Parts: sequence; structure tokens; C-alpha cells
Amino acid sequence: MNDLGPSIPGVDAVAQSSDSERHAPAAARTAVHPLRSHGHAVEHDDRGLSPRPFPGPPPRWGLPLVLGLRRMLLRLADAITPPALAMFDRAVGVGRTQIVGAIARHRIADLVEAHGPQTAAELARRTGLDADALHRTLRAAAWDGIFALDARGRFSQTRLSRALCSGRLDRMREGCEYMASPAMGPAWCDYERTLQTGGPAFDRVHGADVWRFFEGRPHDREVFAQFMMGMTTAHGPIAASLYPFADVRRLCDVGGGRGTMLSELLVRHPHLSGVLCDSPGVIASARSLLERRGVAERVTLAPGNFFESVPRGADAYLLKNILHDWDDARAVQVLGNVRRAMEPGHKLLVVEDIVETNQSHGLGPVADVHMMIVCSGGRERSRAEFARLFESAGFALARVFAAQPIAVLEGVPR
Ligand SMILES: C[S@@+](CC[C@H](N)C(=O)[O-])C[C@H]1O[C@@H](n2cnc3c(N)ncnc32)[C@H](O)[C@@H]1O
Repeated sequence: MNDLGPSIPGVDAVAQSSDSERHAPAAARTAVHPLRSHGHAVEHDDRGLSPRPFPGPPPRWGLPLVLGLRRMLLRLADAITPPALAMFDRAVGVGRTQIVGAIARHRIADLVEAHGPQTAAELARRTGLDADALHRTLRAAAWDGIFALDARGRFSQTRLSRALCSGRLDRMREGCEYMASPAMGPAWCDYERTLQTGGPAFDRVHGADVWRFFEGRPHDREVFAQFMMGMTTAHGPIAASLYPFADVRRLCDVGGGRGTMLSELLVRHPHLSGVLCDSPGVIASARSLLERRGVAERVTLAPGNFFESVPRGADAYLLKNILHDWDDARAVQVLGNVRRAMEPGHKLLVVEDIVETNQSHGLGPVADVHMMIVCSGGRERSRAEFARLFESAGFALARVFAAQPIAVLEGVPR
């Protein structure tokens, strides 16, 4: 990545955009920008984004309470079900992933929302799918509470199926499409070798880590970016309320994706300016998001590779959901580059879920297995493991601001 400076080419993509593009009235710009790649439509979907803060944060006790209650009810359901049946329900999980993935991919919930209850034959005409296969798919989904099936064979919307509509801020449609994508499926099928060797299945199966894989597949990269944006619209307000950003002036978001987190912090803290670093392909689609959020003029875009370098010139460096993508050696390499860009008094802010070794509650343990399969040595880490990483890269872990599902870990240069 480049050092920050006004004369360095390739750094400030916002500044390089044409004036007419940059100053076009928001209403004249479309929220969805279709491109074409590998026969798939690639959409930079900016629906739901505005200069207003994202909703939240929820009360600190909200998520643990809901997750705890849900776990209790599921345990109760298991307690009254023959154990073999309860286990069979778990064993068909792969089918569930593919069913919700197909519904998401073909935007079935959008069609039901737009045209009302309809049969699989009608939905098949609109999607070009096989009517019988679609009916059987949606019937199985309805058993799980996703759509309701009536005696005339019509599928109508439920609370769960509505969560698969496009354009929602949580981007769960893209989340379901991502989990069931042809990139993920083969990696999960290679679980056994990960269990025997500890190595990441994704890299073995696809011959590249997930980020290099995305470079040749803009559609998959965009689906992931949208999914990540959805998660970060929930995490952003929590991080903004946890950490005293009043003390920061210029914040560099390292591996910041399209800028969801950075834009939220800038929206909530008007005194902040920002630097957004990510790979060039991701940065290329950041401008429209930052404009929609009304912060583009306050952000410098810095395409690059955080394994090589990180821009200088910020007084705080934020890494959200970056370290959990990598093994310790590579996590230390990124942190080392951040350390080299920093001066005494600057702050490192790592935003991650803290997952203790013997903790089985919350979303962390399942996310950790996803990291094990999909990322290159990725893992969720305990507080002590973060402290060791910080130490190895020349930081001391100063303060921890914890909530579920994320914490802000503050590091200071040693
Ligand atoms: C899990 S996502 C997190 C995105 C963002 N921080 C968030 O939480 O919304 C990881 C990000 O790291 C970026 N990334 C991966 N390898 C990178 C590299 N070598 N240099 C720069 N960015 C990279 C990816 O493009 C992706 O946007």
C-alpha cells in the first residue's frame, strides 16, 4: 500500500473520479450498478444506504438474551424429541444450506413479495427453473418456516422468508447465497482433510486463498462484500458506541472492504477523516457506498496489499474481522506493517469477536469452524491469544471494550 500523500498516484480514487460523476445528484444515480462477469450480473447494490447512522446499537444485554433464550428453547425441543430424530435434523443441515441458497440466488422471496402468494409453476415461469424441482424445494423450505404452503399449492411470505428479500440492510439474501455458493460447497466437502491436517480446505480445493479466488470472480466477490456489509451494518453502531472515537482524528481502516465500518464511524463522528485500504478490486466499488453515506469527501482510498505495507499518516488504525481470517504468522505480518506505519501515541483498534477456548455459547464457536474451513489458518481468538499477537507485533494490549458479538481491543506501540 502507498504512503499517504497528495502527489502519490493510485491512492485517492475518490479524487480521481470525474467531477460530473462525483457531483451527480443522488437521485440521478441508480442504487444498483449492474456489470457483467462470467455470465453473472454483478451488482454494487447500495440500497438502504444513506447519510443517516445505521440503526442501533441494541442494548448490551439484547443479543446474549435472545441467543440464550433461543438455545434454551432448542434444547427443550431436543429434550422432547427422540435423540436419533434430533440428530437426523442436524445431519440434513447441508440440504438446508442449499435450499436457502437456491431461494436467495433466484430471488424467490422478491417474487413472492412483488406478486403475492403463488404456485411453484408460476414462480418457475418467472425464474426459468423446473416447476417440480422448485415445488419440492419450497415445500421443504416451508417445513422449516420459510414460506407457508397452502392447500392450493401457493407459497406465501413468512417472517423468515421475508428476511431473504433483496435490499435489506442486513443483506441476509446475499449471506445465504454466499454460504451455498459453488465456492463454499466443495470446501466444506473436504472437511475430513482439515480434521486430519488442520489445513484450510478452501485453499486446498480451489488452489488459492479465498481473497485471490475472488480476484477472478467479481460476482462471488460482490456477493461476499454485500454479506460482509450486512454484518458490519450491525457491528458498526456497536463499535461506535464502545470506543471513545472523540480522541481520534484520522482513522485508517485496514482491509475495510467497501467502507461500511469507516463510513459509519464518520457519519457518527463528524470530526473524523478516514483512509480506506483494501485490495484494488474491492476499493474500486467503494466510492458509490461512501457517496451514498455522504462521507466520500472525507475519505482517502488506498488500494493495496496489507501484507506489503499500510499507509502512514493516521493516528488510529482499525482492523475489523481481519485477524480472524489468518493464521498467527500472517496476522503478525499485517500487525507488523501497521506498527511500522504508526508513531508513538497512535492507537491500534482490533474489532473481533473474542472467543475463549472453552466457551461454547454465542455465535463465535460456529464462526470459528467457518474460519477453519474457508480461511488460511483463520480462527476466532481468546483475549490471551490476541494479547500474544499484539506482543509479537510490537504492541501492548491496553484496553478491551467488549460486547456481543464484537469487542474493540486497543493496542499501543511498545
Ligand atoms: C472479512 S473481510 C472484512 C471487511 C471489513 N473490515 C468489514 O469488517 O466489513 C476481509 C477484508 O480483507 C480484505 N483483504 C484480504 N486480503 C487483503 C490484502 N492482502 N490486502 C488488503 N486487503 C485484503 C478483503 O478484500 C476483505 O475486504
